[in-house]
Amino acid sequence: MTFLVTGATGKAGRHVVDELLRLGHPVRALTRDPAKARLPAKAEVVKGDLTDPDSVRPALRGVTGAHLLTVGGDDYATLRTGPELAQMAAEAGVRRVTLLWNGQEGPVEKAFEDGDVEWTRLQPVDFMGNTLGWAPVVRAESRVSEPFADIPMAVIHEADVGAVAAAVLAQGGHGGKAYLLTGPEPYTSRQRLATIAQMLGRDLEFDELTEEQAREHWHSAGYGQELIELIAAWQGHPPPEAQTPSPAVRQITGREPRTFEQWVREHAHHFTT
Ligand SMILES: NC(=O)c1ccc[n+]([C@@H]2O[C@H](COP(=O)([O-])OP(=O)(O)OC[C@H]3O[C@@H](n4cnc5c(N)ncnc54)[C@H](OP(=O)(O)O)[C@@H]3O)[C@@H](O)[C@H]2O)c1
Repeated sequence: MTFLVTGATGKAGRHVVDELLRLGHPVRALTRDPAKARLPAKAEVVKGDLTDPDSVRPALRGVTGAHLLTVGGDDYATLRTGPELAQMAAEAGVRRVTLLWNGQEGPVEKAFEDGDVEWTRLQPVDFMGNTLGWAPVVRAESRVSEPFADIPMAVIHEADVGAVAAAVLAQGGHGGKAYLLTGPEPYTSRQRLATIAQMLGRDLEFDELTEEQAREHWHSAGYGQELIELIAAWQGHPPPEAQTPSPAVRQITGREPRTFEQWVREHAHHFTT
């Protein structure tokens, strides 16, 4: 059983690759740039771009299951190639796919829901790994500047997203389901910074931005308007289910979801060197 992992070089995708390899399955890992991919030697690295379906067609050959992104490009724009991807997957005999949802129903989800390949939608809340974005300013200035300081979110360790995707692909039996994936408890951004400060033994300051200041910052960082609206809506007004721990990681993997403290222990060096 060979599995195709798209987004294989990303925060969650690397864990999907690692977990499928750990389970003993051959993995084909898709990237737009194999030279930069830094993927495990055991993975077969192939070049492809999800916005160009023909470039992905060869990667689907002989694949039992595929982990698919629903957004693409460096601005995380909704992928419009869903119909082509769903048709190619069916033609290639792919049995099942996991669809990594991005907060709103898009053409990839729609095309698979209308098609014949077994699909499972994975809806993770914010990854703990997004916190790495704070590392440069924590190292340089011992503070972060962020909006929505006190809005809780049950952030998930990206390794748990990988473990769920690998289990769903390898085991089957999850067709037609949508799983909300969270960590074990909600944290606000201010609490996450306090956890990092405590574990580093340093004073770190939370400088709360207004939403308007944050929008200006995202805009000058080059984020597209679609992404800015998505982040502002999701982080500023998360739905209650994103703030409430879900049992899905435990039910699917048989393990408790990893805590934010564990994530900080694994990544503390990024905040200090
Ligand atoms: N981060 C979060 O909090 C979060 C929460 C919920 C859902 N998600 C979803 O999870 C996915 C990954 O997010 P992430 O934070 O892990 O992103 P990331 O670390 O920035 O990785 C993005 C990945 O997408 C791949 N990619 C981008 N455009 C592509 C294209 N046109 N064709 C093929 N591959 C493409 C990149 O591969 P190459 O550069 O190697 O080609 C890379 O592996 C996204 O779809 C996002 O919507 C993220």
